[in-house]
Amino acid sequence: MADRFTVLGIETSCDETAAAVVRLEGERVEVLSNVVASQIAAHVPYGGVVPEVAARAHVELIDGVIGRALADSGLDYDGLDGIAATAGPGLIGGVMVGLSAAKGLALARGLPLVAVNHLEGHALSVRLGEAPAPYPFLLLLVSGGHCQLLSVEGVGRAVRLGSTIDDAAGEAFDKIAAALGLDYPGGPALERLAEGGDPTRFSLPRALLDRKDCDFSFSGLKTAAARTADTSVHTEADRRDLAAAVQGAIARQLSERSARAMGRYVEMQGGAGRLFAVAGGVAANRTVRARLEETASAHGFAFTAPPLKYCTDNAAMIALAGAERLRAGMTDGLAAPARPRWPLDEAAARDAPIHKPGRKGAKA
Ligand code: KG4
Ligand code: ZN
Repeated sequence: MADRFTVLGIETSCDETAAAVVRLEGERVEVLSNVVASQIAAHVPYGGVVPEVAARAHVELIDGVIGRALADSGLDYDGLDGIAATAGPGLIGGVMVGLSAAKGLALARGLPLVAVNHLEGHALSVRLGEAPAPYPFLLLLVSGGHCQLLSVEGVGRAVRLGSTIDDAAGEAFDKIAAALGLDYPGGPALERLAEGGDPTRFSLPRALLDRKDCDFSFSGLKTAAARTADTSVHTEADRRDLAAAVQGAIARQLSERSARAMGRYVEMQGGAGRLFAVAGGVAANRTVRARLEETASAHGFAFTAPPLKYCTDNAAMIALAGAERLRAGMTDGLAAPARPRWPLDEAAARDAPIHKPGRKGAKA
């Protein structure tokens, strides 16, 4: 059928080996299968993702994961219209494993290849829920490797309104969690520790107070939290209070910058698409989510977030980006390169890299 695009997506840019089959028909999005093999256990002993360990694990897991995604979808290769894979940004060894697998399959089966930007995958993950978010929308993308605000206007069309000048929010969660003695991945562990803690007891610095833009910075918070952990945390109650203060400070910065971005977005879009979405692993944090939801409603925006399984790294978002690109005629040749650094909004990319692959969970 001319308006039906069924795509196998492959994701290997960090520590999840994932494959999924997604069908796009008009505005209807159907996830036919979604398989994620997490490597977290392999990285726990190191306190963060080790690129070499990740790349080897992707090689071992990829065939089985693709096979299962296809079997779960009930289709065979003849039922597919294209193969999509993350081509960056991310850890180069892992990206090459997934992209090469996709090229092999595309060549062997005579299917078009789509090289997908991982950030576009996260941006489009908002369209994987029950009711796909219509374009345009304002997106806060917060994960272990990324922290940016984007006006998402369509596939291949995202304008960056702000990004972190140092660490990503998830990276800050992970590093501060490590300073509090918590295991990798630290974000969820810190959220659990913060339960019942007093977020007002320790005061932590606020970043970039002299600026009026939508950029983020978490390195000052990280340093201050590590110092407080060293000097003032002696009891379990102290740990809980510091965890709550850190979580509150991160949530506050995310919502303050999002509020600014809402103003900029309204100037750009006029009345259209007053929808604010959050995606990426940090969107799982309930305090962060609640603050963002309040901020959206205070500024007249509807709020949405994809189901949790599509917030963290997955291949359904890559398959959907592949299907939308295929529909728009945006396919790639077999020479498509793996790009460890690949900004989504290339026009806004600065000299300084906005994404630091491989830092997810890494110790400070
Ligand atoms: O999207 P994701 O799975 O991978 C990347 O693309 O980076 O995000 C993982 C990040 C980690 O830094 C993890 O600590 C953080 O998301 N995270 C959380 C929570 N769940 C995951 N941070 C705070 N609270 C959580 N509940
Ligand atoms: Zn990601």
